[in-house]
Amino acid sequence: MAAINFRNSRRLLLGITGGIAAYKVAELARLLVQGGIEVQTVMTESARHFLGPTTLQALTSKPVYTQLWDDSVNNSMAHIDLSRAVDAILVAPASADFIAKIAHGLADDLLSTLCLARNCPLMIAPAMNQQMLGNPATQRNLTTLKKDNITILGPAYGIQACGETGMGRMLEPHELFEVVQNFFQPRLLQGKRVLITAGPTFEAIDAVRGIINLSSGKMGFAIANAALEAGAEVTLISGPVCLTYPAVKKLIPITSANDMLAAVKNEVTLNDIFISVAAVADYRPAISHTQKIKKTDNNMVLDLVPNPDILQYVVNLPNPPFCVGFAAETEDIDKNAEIKRHKKNLPLLIANFAQEAMGSDDSTLMLFDDNGKHTLAKAPKIDQARRLIEHIATLYKKHHS
Ligand code: C5P
Repeated sequence: MAAINFRNSRRLLLGITGGIAAYKVAELARLLVQGGIEVQTVMTESARHFLGPTTLQALTSKPVYTQLWDDSVNNSMAHIDLSRAVDAILVAPASADFIAKIAHGLADDLLSTLCLARNCPLMIAPAMNQQMLGNPATQRNLTTLKKDNITILGPAYGIQACGETGMGRMLEPHELFEVVQNFFQPRLLQGKRVLITAGPTFEAIDAVRGIINLSSGKMGFAIANAALEAGAEVTLISGPVCLTYPAVKKLIPITSANDMLAAVKNEVTLNDIFISVAAVADYRPAISHTQKIKKTDNNMVLDLVPNPDILQYVVNLPNPPFCVGFAAETEDIDKNAEIKRHKKNLPLLIANFAQEAMGSDDSTLMLFDDNGKHTLAKAPKIDQARRLIEHIATLYKKHHS
């Protein structure tokens, strides 16, 4: 299996302005460097009152720049050189004063000047007192930044260093790290339309009862997020789950297998890739009562009829998209997975241990395709999803070359 092919270059300029949240940026720098991102730090004069450049220098293994007029830069053009040597700029924390400067195109120190001179995306993580944030001037400035395609990350609500409570806390280092990591994912599915089914289906017995399974939807949602990061246009058809929906192009919540099939029929011809992650119920009650069934002292027999196989329907279409199936197995995983892959005629089937994967945040995945079996050792589902998307993009490309 090919190694993970991140963007060739993953260079971030980390700008730090004056605010108490600056102390948390040391942790962010550590996460970024550990994540394989090259970090160049630039601090404003005010930031140095909250955090020492030596800390950042040690964490990033690079000198920290603070001055517009820096003798160590050969041509005295640190603002141009630094902004050209990175793929993105993140300013965290971004103070009210810094936001005002960027909104108005001011350039009176190194960080504001290089932001004005940049030719790469700029993200900012505001952090300030809640009254400063709510002030109409700050709000106007933030609106201007959004219009200028600058990404605003947060801020969050909570207790502030000044003792007040409200909006204005900087996002936590791990949240900012996640955003930067997403930014650097390779755009392997740019321009591709991907249809994903996720979660369980619910098959009603009566007005209040039904058959469901232990699928949480976490794997399907992670794959939807990874496909978005890879630049795909994603449609997500989801059974009943308790998760935050990814920012997909189209979201279709459904209940039963028949609902899912109807939604898939509507969407599938518009898509290049179909990833069938949902744990679709194999059977449904032959009769679904509209009223609640009354309890009696007798045994009750539930008559079940098979549900349609949605993935099989898609595979059998005259012009199907590239289809990927999932199989949650409890035993004989290799044998069962290969049988399923051949029966359903799939270029790729992903198997996992039902006991380990269902409902959990981590899973081990086994990928079965024409080249055999590849195992992705146990890891968080979002990491597995990113690896899977990379594999799917490679197979999809081969399929269409
Ligand atoms: O046959 P089995 O249910 O194990 O196959 C699993 C794969 O088939 C999964 O990708 C699942 O989403 C899909 N499936 C389906 N419709 C069903 C049952 C399973 O699309 N009724």
